[in-house]
Amino acid sequence: MTDGINPLHSLDDWDDDLLRRYPRDSEPRHGKSTEEFRSYDDAADHVKEFYRLNHRQQTVEVNLQKREQFLKFEKRQMGIWEAMEYLNTLVDDSDPDTSLSQIEHLLQTSEAIRADGHPRWFILTGLVHDLGKILCLFDEPQWCVTGDTFPVGCQFDSSIVYHDFFQENPDYSNPEYNSQYGIYEPNCGLRNVMLSWGHDEYMYNVCKPFLPPQGLAMIRYHSFYPWHSEGAYEYLMDDFDHQMLEYVKLFNPYDLYSKSDAPPDIKALKPYYEDLIHEFFPPQLSW
Ligand SMILES: [Fe+2]
Ligand SMILES: [Fe+2]
Repeated sequence: MTDGINPLHSLDDWDDDLLRRYPRDSEPRHGKSTEEFRSYDDAADHVKEFYRLNHRQQTVEVNLQKREQFLKFEKRQMGIWEAMEYLNTLVDDSDPDTSLSQIEHLLQTSEAIRADGHPRWFILTGLVHDLGKILCLFDEPQWCVTGDTFPVGCQFDSSIVYHDFFQENPDYSNPEYNSQYGIYEPNCGLRNVMLSWGHDEYMYNVCKPFLPPQGLAMIRYHSFYPWHSEGAYEYLMDDFDHQMLEYVKLFNPYDLYSKSDAPPDIKALKPYYEDLIHEFFPPQLSW
C-alpha cells in the first residue's frame, strides 16, 4: 500500500501520530502559545509526507468533486455490522502483532463509552465513527480518507499541523478563499462550512437520517483537531456549534485513549451490538 500516493504504512499511522501530538494527560492548550506545546516537526518522515499530500490537495474544488462522487451513495448496500467486517478487509503494511484491527478499534471505543454509562446513541456513535474509512476500499488515496480536518474556502488556521504545507495548496493564494472568512459569513455555523474531505464527513452524511445531532457532531468533527483541541475557527461558530463542541470533546478521549492490548471479544459482543444497531439503523444502508 505504501507508495508515492499512499505514504502511510497503515491508515492508523495518522491516529498514532495523534497520540504523539496529544499524549494522554496533556494539558489543555487553549491560551498557551503553540510553541510551548508542540514539536510537530518530529513526525516520522512518511507521516510528514502524508500531511504534505493532504494539505496540498484538499481544495474547494476537490471537496465539491468528492461530495458529488460519494454523497450519491451508489457504491454499495450494507448493514452496519457488514460494513464493519468490510472495513476489516483493509489490508495494509501494519504489524499484525502490535496493531489493532479496524473492528477492534471500533469496539474498544464503544465499549469504553458503554463502561462509563453513557446513552445508547453515544455507544453506537463510538461503534460507527470510523466506518467512513471504507473510502480506502473504494480506492481513495490516504490523504482523502484520514488526517486532521479543517475548513476549506477560507484561511487555513495557523494551528493546523504542518501549516507550512498549505503554501502548496492553490487555495492558499486564491483571494476568494484566503481571507479570514473566505466564502463564509461570520458565525454562519459549521453546518454551512465545507470541511476537508475524509472519512468523517462521509460517515456523517451516511448517518445523518439515523443518529441524534450530538452523535452526528461527534462523527463529523472527530478529526477536526484545530477546532476541538486548538480552539480555532470560533468566528465561524454559531450557538449550536458551541453546544456540540462539548459533545465532541467528550467523545475525543474515547477515540484517542481507549486502545488497549486486550482485544475485545468480537463474537461475544456481537449480539449486544446487533440489537443496538437495529434500534437506530435500517438493516441495509446506502454507501
Ligand atoms: Fe477517525
Ligand atoms: Fe477512531
